[in-house]
Amino acid sequence: MRLVSDLRILYRLTCTRVRGGSHQERLEAFYRHQATGYDDFRKRLLHGREEMMRALEIPAGGTLLDMGGGTGSNIEVLADRLPGLGAVTIVDLCPSLLETARKRIADRGWANVTTALADVTTFEPEGGLVDAITFSYSLTMIPDWFRALEQAYHLLRPGGRIGVVDFYVSRKWPAPGLRRHGGFTRTFWPTWFGFDNVYPSSDHLPWLQSRFETLRLDERAGRVPYLLGMKAPYYIYLGRKKETDSPQES
Ligand SMILES: C[S@@+](CC[C@H](N)C(=O)[O-])C[C@H]1O[C@@H](n2cnc3c(N)ncnc32)[C@H](O)[C@@H]1O
Repeated sequence: MRLVSDLRILYRLTCTRVRGGSHQERLEAFYRHQATGYDDFRKRLLHGREEMMRALEIPAGGTLLDMGGGTGSNIEVLADRLPGLGAVTIVDLCPSLLETARKRIADRGWANVTTALADVTTFEPEGGLVDAITFSYSLTMIPDWFRALEQAYHLLRPGGRIGVVDFYVSRKWPAPGLRRHGGFTRTFWPTWFGFDNVYPSSDHLPWLQSRFETLRLDERAGRVPYLLGMKAPYYIYLGRKKETDSPQES
């Protein structure tokens, strides 16, 4: 069963090209046929998600936005902590994936979790500033990722936490303390992922480090299913908005 589901997803990933339309139409065209097998396949591709979610500090009663949260699978990691949290919102632009998230919320009876069909570069929650924001393998799929991060910065309360996990490549000459990838890695992965409109960047980490106080950064590489032992670089970033920063005007 898993093989059939994998083959269907691999076919989508490797043999079909999504072109034209709006960003939302491209996302829907890409994910529409994967929504059911999505979680099982991505569990073996998207490394570090559980670790990032577990390490994320959210105060009692605190609010969370999971930006580009897709099927809401990351919220499973928080299940034990959910009763002690305030509102948790899964924000995503893809109707098919959010439909799966809504079913999950109903099945689990998560009373304080909701979904929002919205673009994270402009999304404004009803309750004002939030305590924590996560991006789990979504920044690389957001063309204006810098606007998504600006918006997240704007929506976080001072002292609030940001957690990001995603594919990336290093700069040719990274800042001291950061890993340096060879030319093949820096070229191959953006090209390979780029076929599916996924863009590993060398600029996400420097942006995060320049705006937030870094609490934790792990740079790693994880296996890609069916790609003969090749490993794609990914990072886990946990940061804090400085207490002295006031929310920016949008
Ligand atoms: C690789 S999936 C990751 C989903 C989920 N966070 C996870 O870890 O399984 C990327 C997600 O980003 C969403 N996305 C891409 N661009 C977006 C945007 N501008 N606004 C909201 N969601 C977006 C996609 O619809 C998709 O659900």
